[in-house]
Amino acid sequence: MQDKQSITDNINKLKNEKNAVILAHNYQRDEIQDIADFVGDSLGLSREAVKQDADIIVFCGVDFMAESAAILSPEKTVIMPEIDAGCPMAAMVTPKSLREKREEYPDAAVVCYVNTSAAVKAECDICCTSANAVNVINSLDEDTIIFVPDKNLANFVASQTDKTIIPWEGYCPTHHQILAGDVLLMKEQHPNAEFLAHPECRKDVLEIADKILSTTGMVNYVQQSDSKEFIIGTENGILHRLDKENPDKTFYHASQYAICPNMKMITLDSVQKSLEKMEYKIEVPEDIRKKAKRALDKMLEVKR
Ligand code: 13P
Ligand code: SF4
Repeated sequence: MQDKQSITDNINKLKNEKNAVILAHNYQRDEIQDIADFVGDSLGLSREAVKQDADIIVFCGVDFMAESAAILSPEKTVIMPEIDAGCPMAAMVTPKSLREKREEYPDAAVVCYVNTSAAVKAECDICCTSANAVNVINSLDEDTIIFVPDKNLANFVASQTDKTIIPWEGYCPTHHQILAGDVLLMKEQHPNAEFLAHPECRKDVLEIADKILSTTGMVNYVQQSDSKEFIIGTENGILHRLDKENPDKTFYHASQYAICPNMKMITLDSVQKSLEKMEYKIEVPEDIRKKAKRALDKMLEVKR
């Protein structure tokens, strides 16, 4: 049985031998964030995948994120340590159901959250993440926008723009674990804490938030805020980074149940194995990749 240090040493050795980089989402396990070359939100990871001068990207996140890296950087090999790490919200929209919705609103633009499959991205006009959704929508000429798949992000965006947003009925089961009642209790216990919520939270949770931010938006915000305490309304993995980068500040999770089981599938063992065996390669059929890339490239041109 290998100890943690020898697995870490071996991962670093394999990384150097193979010219690989490890990209990890802010929700990954603590030890995965610690060995990563870059930790970020969906938008930051997409940008990083393009920028990295490596032959191999080991993507520690969920499938749609690794697919985005493969779409944007076809010259690199993208591997994911756990092939079953999917996103249930992304599975709530299919290309067929989206085409049917388009027929109902022929003059609308289709904006899809990056939490979608490559095949759905290929059907849409432009992608967005939680960090740039409002800017993306405002960059479009169309006044009516079909927004898939997250209804909470859609409602939030609708409150920030004059455009008509047609929401989809998707949601994130992990963010739905965060309940307004729990947040109010936390606020009572920590009256000086600011409450930061991810836009995937329920509407009534967003209504009591002091700030609505993407995961890296939270990381950046706490650094420049004068507050010393924060209640964090998103997946709890982000507390590792917040604690590490802000030893003088205190962070409380809004709900102990806000844990994404898919994000937690990846372990040090599976990262080591993936580098040894070069598994699991993420490949997107070329016709879908080209169309999906157009939607992602358009997003990356929009100011954050
Ligand atoms: P961010 O882009 O804010 O990191 O969010 C990704 C995600 O999956 C949220 O659940
Ligand atoms: Fe998907 Fe929610 Fe997990 Fe993010 S936290 S990957 S939206 S299930």
